[in-house]
Amino acid sequence: VPGIVAAIRAGEEIDTLPQARVRKNLRQSGPILLGPYDSGDALRKAIRKSPAEIIIELYASQVRGCGGAGFPTAAKWEKCRVSEGSAHYVICNADEGEPGTFKDRVILMDNPELMFDGMTIAGYTIGAEEGMIYLRGEYDYLRGDLERALANHRQLGLLGRNICGLEGFNFDIRIQAAAGAYICGEESALIESLEGKRGAPRDRPPFPVEKGYKEQPTLVNNVETFCCAARILENGGEWFSRLGTVESKGTKLLSISGDCQLPGVYEVEYGITVEKLLRQVGAEDAQAVQIGGPSGSCIGPKDFSRRIAFEDLATGGSIIIFGPGRDLLEYMYQFGEFFAEESCGWCVPCRVGTTLLLKEMRAVLDGHATHTELQAMQKLCGTIKTMSQCGLGQTAPNPILSTLKQFPELYEARLQSGDYFPRLDLAKAVR
Ligand code: NAI
Ligand code: SF4
Repeated sequence: VPGIVAAIRAGEEIDTLPQARVRKNLRQSGPILLGPYDSGDALRKAIRKSPAEIIIELYASQVRGCGGAGFPTAAKWEKCRVSEGSAHYVICNADEGEPGTFKDRVILMDNPELMFDGMTIAGYTIGAEEGMIYLRGEYDYLRGDLERALANHRQLGLLGRNICGLEGFNFDIRIQAAAGAYICGEESALIESLEGKRGAPRDRPPFPVEKGYKEQPTLVNNVETFCCAARILENGGEWFSRLGTVESKGTKLLSISGDCQLPGVYEVEYGITVEKLLRQVGAEDAQAVQIGGPSGSCIGPKDFSRRIAFEDLATGGSIIIFGPGRDLLEYMYQFGEFFAEESCGWCVPCRVGTTLLLKEMRAVLDGHATHTELQAMQKLCGTIKTMSQCGLGQTAPNPILSTLKQFPELYEARLQSGDYFPRLDLAKAVR
């Protein structure tokens, strides 16, 4: 493992990494998520500890949620463990639906046993007997392999009753297929969907750790987070915390797409600069990079020295690269179309706002807008962000807001000529 850590730090190519495997878009493997794993290793070590000791190990690792928001995993598990209810549940969010995100798919195909063990360790820790994988609708073709891997796990005594011979330790996992709605990746909409209802977000708080599936304490984590938890119990929290930056420990799986020579999935250590990443994937001439998919921000070359980390550029794992020939604003428009299409329609600022935003952006792109209209569009972005009920609406204006800030000249160039309204300093106007 130290050899691999050093190799990752040095940003070595895939074929020089000792245990790397090139399969299904995987270009760079690391010690935590995609290195070799013998089923049950982490689980057997974990159950030698008490649930409280497992949580201490997670605190020592400082691991944070890998779905994008970065909530401290130890705190989430602890809150769920102490919440009272008639039953506790574990849910794995495998509904990665952010455009440009395909990193969980590699785990689901290549290393599902690690994820199963992470979920089972969670079950042991919080006192749950039932685990559910909410599988992205478009990944239905993975279901057969996953079911076979689960059956194999049961045969090995790693799921079912008296797991690993431990009397009274019962836990099993079932898979529920999603139906292809982006909003169901939001955890409370996901829970509604699991309960057989329409996938609409709930008010939070209460968070799922208190009131989740069937109103009972529920732990929802991303695929990658369960894998991190398993590795931490296998190798120790202190080992994990040696990787990464001050506020972002460990490594991150990134799905890299767009204008680059080597698109695919990379496991990188937190703290890597965008510049270095672009060199690794063969995209030194990038005009812009969308960090975190459409719900994230678009940055330009002056920010390429920034780091992938929660304290700088946070991401759930999607990196989309735009080469010099791209009409960047047209892509921002397409991201807007995605959100307008995927809005669940429950609240007005998001349902109406995202459609209105598209109309205004179209006017800009077609050269029909004035500075005043551009300013109105920017205000609308603020309203959607602050007034929407859930993360979808709150992040939908990000592509437009971030390009207004980073590339004001692209907007200026598209405005109606002969505009007699005072010119706005767009970069200053965007907060
Ligand atoms: P959030 O910050 O509200 O919550 C993150 C997690 O922490 C949730 O599981 C929540 O239940 C938990 N949490 C937060 N406060 C808590 C508290 N006081 N007590 C107990 N638990 C608490 O973020 P949210 O809205 O769940 O997710 C938004 C993020 O998802 C965005 O940052 C975005 O990056 C990411 N995202 C990821 C996508 C993907 O495909 N991976 C798609 C779209 C968004
Ligand atoms: Fe639905 Fe959008 Fe409101 Fe979220 S913000 S509840 S997706 S309408």
